[in-house]
Amino acid sequence: MTILKTRITELFGIERPIVQGGMHHVGLAELAAAVSNAGGLGLITALTQRTPTLLAQEIARCRAMTDKPFGVNLTFLPSVNPPDYPGYIAAIVEGGVKIVETAGNNPQKWLPLLHEAGIRVVHKCTSVRHALKAEAIGCDAVSVDGFECGGHPGEDDVPNFILLPRAAEVLKIPFIASGGMADGRSLVAALALGAEGINMGTRFVATREAPVHENVKAALVAATELDTRLVMRPLRNTERVLANPAVERLLEKERALGAAIRFEDIAPEVAGVYPRVMQGGEVGAGAWSCGMVAGLIHDVPTVQALLDRIMDEAGQIIGARLGGLLARA
Ligand SMILES: Cc1cc2nc3c(=O)[nH]c(=O)nc-3n(C[C@H](O)[C@H](O)[C@H](O)COP(=O)(O)O)c2cc1C
Repeated sequence: MTILKTRITELFGIERPIVQGGMHHVGLAELAAAVSNAGGLGLITALTQRTPTLLAQEIARCRAMTDKPFGVNLTFLPSVNPPDYPGYIAAIVEGGVKIVETAGNNPQKWLPLLHEAGIRVVHKCTSVRHALKAEAIGCDAVSVDGFECGGHPGEDDVPNFILLPRAAEVLKIPFIASGGMADGRSLVAALALGAEGINMGTRFVATREAPVHENVKAALVAATELDTRLVMRPLRNTERVLANPAVERLLEKERALGAAIRFEDIAPEVAGVYPRVMQGGEVGAGAWSCGMVAGLIHDVPTVQALLDRIMDEAGQIIGARLGGLLARA
């Protein structure tokens, strides 16, 4: 059995350097608990719970399913009517959660509250300058999300083969490689590029425990690396999603309306889509996040089998393949 000890396994008190990123309408207690039980770090996605009270219940549900560490993803969205962030943070603190993944806007305002409660904060960002900012304001770690990632890759379009070693050149805090991670090869490559572990989104959607409709898992197995599209770029809110007719319609509107496009123009393709897709199985209902890594997803294993396979493969690559390449003098 391969055991890898890194600064991330130490920081989070986990056995394997593998994190399940926050995912709207996917990151429920079932998945987070399965990932944590398999030795990784599972995350409940806070904003999928409509109120802080519901988040508190979801945290309690997760705790009933695992005695291992798990965390909560808190996504700070640009919004006219922001969600009740103080309420969500209170639910996290009172629920005894010790790890929070922040994403989206700068989390500085909330760090004192989180740190006072003894919570480790890993901020997810898509550029070296944002990673450095996260380090400067006191985040404990960062998750560096490359251009290939599912969800919001930012506007710089730097893929992980450049982004990760650039992060390694300048960061002092540990970082996790995110975007395009699927297997033992990804894990070894990420470690080689300077990361201390991997964060996976899309790969975890296609697992038995992911609480989503079978149609979603089948769509990911069927998709190739050519089947994602970038939407909402004209709104500077770029999202990588799985291609489907609704997404092509959205892109057609972006082409036709150009810089004049407003969110309302594309609301039919993006608003309220997640529950319809994830729980209802209507995979063509609109735009939903999916990474290029779909091309590397060929099955729907249990989370335990997936993590065992990743660790075994990583051990094989490091010990046999790479070790075997070393020429002896
Ligand atoms: C279906 C789906 C929903 C996601 N929702 C969120 C979210 O609500 N908040 C967030 O910070 N990241 C979200 N992400 C991004 C993931 O946490 C992760 O950073 C990303 O999936 C990594 O890239 P990968 O898909 O190539 O593994 C989502 C990703 C997917 C695939």
